[in-house]
Order: sequence, then C-alpha cells, then structure tokens
Amino acid sequence: MSTDKKTIKSYDDYAKKWADKLRSGQNLAHKYLEKPAMYSKLPDLKGKSVICIGCGTGEECEHLKTLGADRVVGIDISQGLIEVAKKSFPQIEFQIMDMEEITLPEFSFDFAYSSLTLHYVEDWTKTLKSIYKVLKPGGVLLFSTHHPVKWSADVKRGDEKDTFLLGYTKFKQKDDCEVYGDYLNTRKINDVWFGDFEVSYYHKPLSSIFKNILDSGFQITDFLEPKAVEEAKTEKVNFWKIHQKIPLFMIFELRKI
Ligand SMILES: C[S@@+](CC[C@H](N)C(=O)[O-])C[C@H]1O[C@@H](n2cnc3c(N)ncnc32)[C@H](O)[C@@H]1O
Repeated sequence: MSTDKKTIKSYDDYAKKWADKLRSGQNLAHKYLEKPAMYSKLPDLKGKSVICIGCGTGEECEHLKTLGADRVVGIDISQGLIEVAKKSFPQIEFQIMDMEEITLPEFSFDFAYSSLTLHYVEDWTKTLKSIYKVLKPGGVLLFSTHHPVKWSADVKRGDEKDTFLLGYTKFKQKDDCEVYGDYLNTRKINDVWFGDFEVSYYHKPLSSIFKNILDSGFQITDFLEPKAVEEAKTEKVNFWKIHQKIPLFMIFELRKI
C-alpha cells in the first residue's frame, strides 16, 4: 500500500503550519535529534546532483543546495507541501511524485536524501528499488526513519500525560502476564499528532527492514541511532532526558553497487 490518503490530506491541509513549525525550531525531534544527525552524514555535495525524497516544504533542499549541490530536485506526494516549497524556494526544482514510482530518468543523481518518509509506505523494497534506479552507480542514499523500538510501543495519550510502553509485566501469584506494544509484527499504525493531524505509518521490525534493504540491491555502509544533541539539555531537558536512553529515529546510509 502506498501512502494512506488521510495522511496525504493531513500534510496538504497542514502545509503552512508544517513550514512555520519547522522554520521556527518548534519541531523538537527535527531540531535536536534528526537534522543534526542527518546533516552530520552528508557527503561533499559540490557539483553533485541530488534528489530529496519526501522533501516536504523544501527546507532540506535549500540546505543541500547551499552546500554546493549543482542540481537539487525535491519530490513529495503532497500537493500542499510542494506548493509551499515552490513559493519559498523558487530557485529549486520541486515535483509532486510518489517515491514508490519515481518517474525521473535512470542514473540521474549522485546522492539521494530522504528524511522521515520511508515509513509511510508498506513496500520498502519497491520504494528502495525505485530510488536505486535513479541513482548513478556508486550513488548514495541517506535516509532516516522511525526507530521500531520506540514506534512499536503502546501509546496512551491523555490530557495530563502521554505514555509509551514496550515491555511486559509477569504476575508472580497468578499464571498471567500483560504485554505492552508489539515489536515483532509488521503492521499499519493509525495515530494523531499535534492534537488533530491524522496520520498512518508502518511499523516493521529491524529484521524486515534489513531484508527489504538487501533485497533492493543496496549495500549498507552505515547505520546510526542518534541521541538528542547536548543543546537540548539546556533548552528542552525532558526531550533530552528521554532521548539519551530511548531511540526515536534511525539512519541508514546505503550505496548503489
Ligand atoms: C515527516 S514529513 C518530512 C518532510 C521533510 N523531509 C522534513 O524533514 O521536513 C514526511 C514527508 O513524506 C512525504 N511522503 C509521504 N509519503 C510519500 C510518498 N509515497 N512519496 C513521496 N513523499 C511522501 C509527506 O508528504 C511528507 O512531506
């Protein structure tokens, strides 16, 4: 299944807010964890052609361009996000496109970058093959995605607290147990972010993810489980505390052989 229609609509409707939140640094997960880790892994982009997959409102494309990339193409399935991206960064090429079926010419790019997008589709092998096709031989794909340990937890949201649990309780006096979360089984998860943003994504255990990557033809050249950066300790201490111990996202660096 490709990206859920409700999820695409949420991104379409939320486009302006998404950009504002990101640009004002209110998106803690991006500011204090994901972007620093992704940007620390960028290769030398001078003179290179780059595709940014799930580019959202274009901020990352702009960053990649300022690092010297010759050509940056941003693709995203959400029309609303691409409209904001085009208005914000008119010097960059943006296209509405599904990453499962990238229609750009084969062997076009030296580097593919994708931040927090893969988990919206079920078939990662198909998607990774679609990216593989447009890379030149030796080309690199750097992508971040949900860390399955965190995102397989049971979620209970409430007015006073949100609780995320992955584990179990074994009762000593009776032959019983309670299990919280489900790491081992691939499934679609329906969630609500920011109070009203309806979203669906796929959870997969690491064994499936590694299999999907290897089946796509890519070679794995690095794997990261980033912690929150030190800056968060003074500015958002609870975010820092949680993400010194609990992973949020993970990053793969892959190479086209
Ligand atoms: C969490 S946002 C990340 C956006 C941007 N990379 C950033 O970090 O700000 C996920 C993005 O993936 C896009 N997306 C979801 N499914 C997609 C698909 N099948 N093809 C292309 N883009 C997709 C969404 O529209 C959204 O822009």
